[in-house]
Amino acid sequence: MPHTHNHMNTIVPRTIFPSSSSSAAAASSFHFLGPAKAKAQWKIGKRPPRRLVLGVAASFLDQLGRMATGLFSSVTASARTKSNVEQVLKNVEWPENFPFKAEDFQRFDESPDTFFYSEPRFVTHIDDPAIRALTKYYSEAFPPSDTPGVCLLDLCSSWVSHFPAGYKQDRIVGMGMNEEELKRNPVLTEYVVQDLNVNPKLPFEDNSFDVITNAVSVDYLTKPMDVFKEMERILKPGGLAIMSFSNRCFWTKAISIWTSTGDSDHVWIVGSYFHYAGGFEPPQAVDISPNPGRSDPMYIVYSRKVATA
Ligand SMILES: C[S@@+](CC[C@H](N)C(=O)[O-])C[C@H]1O[C@@H](n2cnc3c(N)ncnc32)[C@H](O)[C@@H]1O
Repeated sequence: MPHTHNHMNTIVPRTIFPSSSSSAAAASSFHFLGPAKAKAQWKIGKRPPRRLVLGVAASFLDQLGRMATGLFSSVTASARTKSNVEQVLKNVEWPENFPFKAEDFQRFDESPDTFFYSEPRFVTHIDDPAIRALTKYYSEAFPPSDTPGVCLLDLCSSWVSHFPAGYKQDRIVGMGMNEEELKRNPVLTEYVVQDLNVNPKLPFEDNSFDVITNAVSVDYLTKPMDVFKEMERILKPGGLAIMSFSNRCFWTKAISIWTSTGDSDHVWIVGSYFHYAGGFEPPQAVDISPNPGRSDPMYIVYSRKVATA
């Protein structure tokens, strides 16, 4: 299957983008739960699987540390000696206020997204091992297939959602920009075409979804705070939001803070969206890169809506 995304490290200097080679340093002693155990764990308040943290790379964290008058110095110090994205959200001390400015959410191509996504792209945006890793992660984090009352929302969806084969629920909604693509997505029971950068309001009732996914697309959101607040509103208490990303993107359409930073910075950025949106548990990062250095890296940043909200 052809890929349409560019590897970000072909666009910007490798020194800024640790990319796959940094995750190669991340030895893995992690094992996903088997399906039966995962099933037993699917309860409000339980977390999806995580693996041990070994380190971090931290250009952007350094920068933010300086911006926040040394608030992050302990994180960045360990970041220099270790190298693993999973460390980024451990014991993070967030600045008091959302640290990004309007210009951080500008794109090289500011034309309406409806132009860019007007033609369907029946392609995949990450390589097959990365897709398999994401599907495996979903299979262990999702509620069991066909559970009465369970509803999922796939944000920035297309003709594929990478859900486990045969996965179904009464309600699986896809939101995206291209109707042809959404129509072909076999896992969706319904879809909505909506430009979230024009209208970030999610057209759903409060407390209605168990899981929200967003695969390799969080970097296109120019109003992430609005979208994440909306995600919090429509998730059921204890509901799970799973953001996944690699090191590829349509770089002309990705926000500038994304294209000017590296993988571990991206983890911090997405973690900050959860943190500043409010109403979420502390976000966690998982590196699910399947063959570090040999195929596309794959990272998850997830959180749950606090159960008492
Ligand atoms: C790289 S594709 C990823 C598609 C799919 N999630 C996958 O994993 O293959 C980016 C997706 O983000 C969606 N997207 C981009 N900009 C968007 C916007 N402004 N509002 C809503 N969706 C958007 C597009 O519809 C497109 O399907």
